[in-house]
Amino acid sequence: MKTVITYGTFDMFHIGHLKLLERAKELGDRLIVAVSSDELNKVKGKKVIIPYDQRAKIVESIKFVDMVIPEDNWEQKIKDVKDNNVDIFVMGDDWEGKFDFLKEHCEVVYLSRTKNVSTTQFKNSAESIIKLLEQMVKELE
Ligand code: CTP
Repeated sequence: MKTVITYGTFDMFHIGHLKLLERAKELGDRLIVAVSSDELNKVKGKKVIIPYDQRAKIVESIKFVDMVIPEDNWEQKIKDVKDNNVDIFVMGDDWEGKFDFLKEHCEVVYLSRTKNVSTTQFKNSAESIIKLLEQMVKELE
């Protein structure tokens, strides 16, 4: 029984998230996903659109996912790996090398990101449209 764990915000769930979870599950038998809490995102300076409870529920409903746990801080990873008998730690390659310190506890795998899709990109596009609309309204006033 091989256990895999991965971490992420999974805000505005998209195909890049789904493919990452699918490939993570293929590496083992059981996939645990640590979904970052709203508080941790604030600390990271990341603005989240969808609240934690909903993000966790969406990730939990994905067929490749066996269990969701909250990610409340940066330091919990070693404890999570030990507590859950994790064999493989997986992250997208935007984090390449950043979690190599876990190699003394489990295997560490970085998977390639799906091209041309990102929550940040969605948010930026939405913000640009809102700004454009606000400008149009001002010009009409
Ligand atoms: N991911 C991926 N392909 C993408 C986007 C994300 O494989 N196109 C992976 C990330 O590498 C990470 C996981 O999905 O392992 C969760 O990513 P998260 O940071 O929640 O989402 P992003 O879309 O990367 O958000 P942002 O662009 O705001 O960083």
